[in-house]
Amino acid sequence: MPVTTDSSKEWLLQQIESSKNSPAYGNYLEIRDFVLRIMDANPHQDASLYWQEELTGFDYFLDASPLLVNKLRHQCYHLTGIRDYEYRNHHREKAQEAFHNKLAALRRFDPEGRLLVGESPELGGFGFQIDDFLINLDTLKFYEVLIGLDRAGLLAPFSRPVGETSERKAILEIGAGWGGFAYQFKTLYPQSPYLIVDLPQTLLFSGTYLKTLFPECRFLLVDEAQPTIDKSMLEEFDFILIPHYVWPHLQMEQLDLAINMISFQEMTSGQVEDYVARLSGWGCPNLYSLNRDVSSHNTELSSVSGIMARYYDLKPVEILDVAYTELKVPVKKESQPDSRSWVKWLRTALSAKQRKKIKAQAQKRQEKERFLYRHLAGSLKAPC
Ligand SMILES: C[S@@+](CC[C@H](N)C(=O)[O-])C[C@H]1O[C@@H](n2cnc3c(N)ncnc32)[C@H](O)[C@@H]1O
Repeated sequence: MPVTTDSSKEWLLQQIESSKNSPAYGNYLEIRDFVLRIMDANPHQDASLYWQEELTGFDYFLDASPLLVNKLRHQCYHLTGIRDYEYRNHHREKAQEAFHNKLAALRRFDPEGRLLVGESPELGGFGFQIDDFLINLDTLKFYEVLIGLDRAGLLAPFSRPVGETSERKAILEIGAGWGGFAYQFKTLYPQSPYLIVDLPQTLLFSGTYLKTLFPECRFLLVDEAQPTIDKSMLEEFDFILIPHYVWPHLQMEQLDLAINMISFQEMTSGQVEDYVARLSGWGCPNLYSLNRDVSSHNTELSSVSGIMARYYDLKPVEILDVAYTELKVPVKKESQPDSRSWVKWLRTALSAKQRKKIKAQAQKRQEKERFLYRHLAGSLKAPC
């Protein structure tokens, strides 16, 4: 039995009381009411098999205490797999250098540091302190995606000042997890409305997090009674949260960019097709993806890029030669000069058996590529 003195009991009661009255807990309760209502409106489980299991892993968050909400970021490992424990001081010596090197490698694509936003210390935010930034694996992933968007030329419209005649540019993220990318994007482009489509239970994380970190922003919580998002709403609201089951009924008047990271790969083919087809139907000009073609445990999906390519012309965006999950950045090998005559010679000199072997190796490589994370920038196909 734990020994408690009066003073530690008092301390605990004080902590609970002040957390209960914090804006974070108030935001949590408000978003939870919304989430419970939309869960009622869509009682059948239509998440992929993988996500049905994931959701049961964090159902306890529907009954979070004020102290737990105060450390919301510590519960987000359900969504991106990283834990505050790995970033405590006793891991610093061993791990910090690798983070430092990866960040330095990414910063080479962003020498002026225009796109770097560190993790906020709010709500239990964690990471290694590097220069002025709190850095963890999620921070680096989001930074990598911002760099990819920039390299594909997709951030330029968001950087332009919004004049009296020009409208605010809107971005939609499908499957936003705890809202970490939304936090970085909104910090860089405060004028742009940020829309999120996600499973109701996950919106509890992103809604609470974003509402707490951006207390001055206006939030619209969309349900099935209000499936049209018109331009005036994009002017009026800063964040628009949309439960996934509203998607098939949704109408959007304007959307300038859609993104998806580490999420399409975990859905069914039907779900990915539904997202991409509707984006294309609304004329959303760009769709950016950081995904594998299929997660290794997902048996319900054909291929993310295969589905996207039916509606969008896809261009790979080269950043680092390493998955976002890896910290060690390999040194790029100098590529051999491609001598046409050498290639021709090789083709004629090879025996049928050797050619067959090379073909089999290429097929194997292709199969392996299905499981590689790729940045893809999609631009809307012209109508046939
Ligand atoms: C692995 S998490 C990644 C979160 C975030 N994109 C990131 O990279 O940090 C996958 C996300 O996809 C969402 N998701 C799963 N199935 C979905 C569906 N059918 N519609 C919308 N979002 C879905 C999950 O709720 C979660 O937010």
